Amino acid sequence: MPYTLDDVTRIVLQAKEKAYRETDLEPEPQYTTEVEWPIQCTVGPGLEGAIACETKIGYVNGAKGWLIYRGYDVFDLCAHSTFEETSFLLLHGRLPTAQELDVFCRTLRRRMFIPRTQRVLLSFPVEERNPMDALRLGTNLMRQKQTRNERDNTGEDTLASDDDSIPMETKPEGRKHPVYEFLARLFKPVTVIEPTADVVPDDVESFYNLIAGVAAVSATIGRARQGRMPLEPLPDLSFAGNYLYMLSGRRPTPLEERVMDICLILHADHGMNASTFASMVVASTLSDIYLAIGAGISALSGPLHGGANVEVVNMLDEIGSASAVPKWYKTALEEKRKIMGFGHRVYKAYDPRARILAPLAEMLAEEHPELRNTYETARALEREVVATLGEKKKVFPNVDFYSGIVYRSMGIPADMYTTIFAVSRVSGWCARVAEYIENNRIFRPRAIYTGTFEEKYIPVQNRGEN
Ligand SMILES: CC(C)(COP(=O)(O)OP(=O)(O)OC[C@H]1O[C@@H](n2cnc3c(N)ncnc32)[C@H](O)[C@@H]1OP(=O)(O)O)[C@@H](O)C(=O)NCCC(=O)NCCS
Repeated sequence: MPYTLDDVTRIVLQAKEKAYRETDLEPEPQYTTEVEWPIQCTVGPGLEGAIACETKIGYVNGAKGWLIYRGYDVFDLCAHSTFEETSFLLLHGRLPTAQELDVFCRTLRRRMFIPRTQRVLLSFPVEERNPMDALRLGTNLMRQKQTRNERDNTGEDTLASDDDSIPMETKPEGRKHPVYEFLARLFKPVTVIEPTADVVPDDVESFYNLIAGVAAVSATIGRARQGRMPLEPLPDLSFAGNYLYMLSGRRPTPLEERVMDICLILHADHGMNASTFASMVVASTLSDIYLAIGAGISALSGPLHGGANVEVVNMLDEIGSASAVPKWYKTALEEKRKIMGFGHRVYKAYDPRARILAPLAEMLAEEHPELRNTYETARALEREVVATLGEKKKVFPNVDFYSGIVYRSMGIPADMYTTIFAVSRVSGWCARVAEYIENNRIFRPRAIYTGTFEEKYIPVQNRGEN
């Protein structure tokens, strides 16, 4: 019997039940109680343990394996919400009304149509570039004031970019700075939205442009890598559905659309992770939101962060089969290799995102026989790693371990996986940047200097050989 949308909800709720059975519901007071600044905390290398700000956006309880967005458990959002609604929640601090949600969905759909950015992007050989590098380039190209055209003959607003809207900072039009800049006097908090007017402040416009635009740019890159032209979003598909359609050129099945929606919800925010922090650091200099998001994309691309999902499928292919796992794993341990898709700086328990993605991967492996071997290999590896490192070192599967199998079932090439992470995380980046900038303080930690003093300068001709 093929799986239905109700089965997906059931799988998510079962994952929630299992997670709740294995953990308790007490938050950590050290990370959830209001503090008086400045505070005392113990900081490790890589700023481990450092507290840099207060937030109402999200909370990760690494000891227990919880992930909370604006007070809502990610299990509940995956079971009942959508990526659009979750993004609205992250940005605006509350769930939207039905009308607000409708306006927001239409706004995002419209802004996935970015022909000018796509045209400029495709003038570069994007198909030859690393997809995350191309995504950063495309995001930079979106760094232009997008204006709304007159209604076109479909009755929908369309977007175009002014010919001369690549910002010239001194353009004599009365406005001294482009709208997306974080000038404190221009910046308005994003907590209020006028639901009926379909008009939001300029800064919020940029967040919406980015959430929609990063998805459209990612899809354009995926198409270019197949030697194909970009596609326009379809009016009857959700954000997740349109992203899949624009990436693959095929209308996704309702099941694929729903599973992608869940993947986007799961990746939308995750505390002060490296890419969120990178975005916030850039924004804290009062640079601009497009450059801040570009920094997030750059940080996400590394194999210790978002790049791990690509490494995982490559690793599973290299192992080849479940029966090959014990020998492969023994060698990996002997060589002290990190197993991709395992371990986490914050989670020292089972990652709740992996709790959802693992049974979804299982479901998809049943639907797609060609995936079964990869799935079985993953399960066998999980058993080995958890048995040896689980209790001992608190190393469990993380979000990246099963996400690749899920994306593979949709026919998405492995090298695009990290861009999917970015498509989702951009809403968390925008929300966190918006919140931080309201009480902005430029990031400026110090380092312990362990170098020498009192070196004598010797002119180059007197230095001899080293
Ligand atoms: C994510 C990651 C960078 C976290 O690093 P971290 O917080 O510095 O964790 P640590 O390196 O302190 O890990 C603690 C111990 O577990 C071990 N460990 C952590 N992740 C491991 C992994 N994936 N495979 C094998 N051992 C691992 C470490 O070697 C260390 O052992 P030690 O105490 O004997 O030195 C790390 O787990 C990793 O590289 N994972 C693989 C990449 C990955 O999946 N990244 C995606 C993250 S969402």
